[in-house]
Amino acid sequence: MPISTRPLTDSFGVEIQGVDLNADIDEDTFAEIERHWYENGIALFRGQAFTEPAIINFCRRFGELEIHVREEYLDPHYPELLRVSNVVEAGREVGILQDKELGWHHDQSYMKEPAIGSMLCAFTLPNWGGDTSFANLAVAYEALDDQAKARLDGRRVIHSYSYFNGIWSVPTNDTQTNRTPDVSQPMVRTHPITGRKAIYVDPAMVPMIDGDDEEESRELLDELFEWIIKPEFVYRHQWQPGDAILWDNASTMHRRESFDPHSERLMKRTTIRPKPALAVPF
Ligand code: SIN
Repeated sequence: MPISTRPLTDSFGVEIQGVDLNADIDEDTFAEIERHWYENGIALFRGQAFTEPAIINFCRRFGELEIHVREEYLDPHYPELLRVSNVVEAGREVGILQDKELGWHHDQSYMKEPAIGSMLCAFTLPNWGGDTSFANLAVAYEALDDQAKARLDGRRVIHSYSYFNGIWSVPTNDTQTNRTPDVSQPMVRTHPITGRKAIYVDPAMVPMIDGDDEEESRELLDELFEWIIKPEFVYRHQWQPGDAILWDNASTMHRRESFDPHSERLMKRTTIRPKPALAVPF
């Protein structure tokens, strides 16, 4: 399958053209897609005629798929797919995150072995809005001077799903809460494949620096939160029907922008675990 690419920004993101997720993708083409994805942090595929089994089969080639802890929002036929949506059926919200404002986050950074990737597929788009913005935190790290890098290297931060839920989502039930205790992660994460370093904090999941008092924590985190969303590190994606975006959770964070709450937005997302040989960045 011959593919071609188009950069999405000057520093990261790539559109990969010529890929049909429903077709057989040979090993060489797949390896090329995987390389472009990791090199660029996010990879866009346009014009897809989505079928759930094809999405799942494609994503499984990058690593085992995580069944998301919020089982109430899983696709009832395909639990590997998490519905991200404001759709209400029979009085019940079928998807996570609905139409609330949504903060910058990494998927599953609150797990001891965090997800390496996610792929989000646009099934139904709203009348307006609902873009997804991505920030590349490897680029943000590399843009720091040596002194600023030294302030971050070697430190750890707390990633907390209960903190995220307290602000952005419906609280978890007891079983889900027990499956998602707070975890300590490096403040700068070395990518298991590219070896590039990336800042690994975000305002939605990270309440504090491990070992610091709250005030010290706040000061440095606020500084960092301002830095990592500078326009030169951000790509904002305006969805078209049939778009899928694969993102790297080790080097990018993302957030959904607001949208018309009187219209429906239905996205389906996989969550990809690192291949076993790569699962130990920490
Ligand atoms: C997500 O945060 O996983 C989904 C973002 C989006 O719906 O645009």
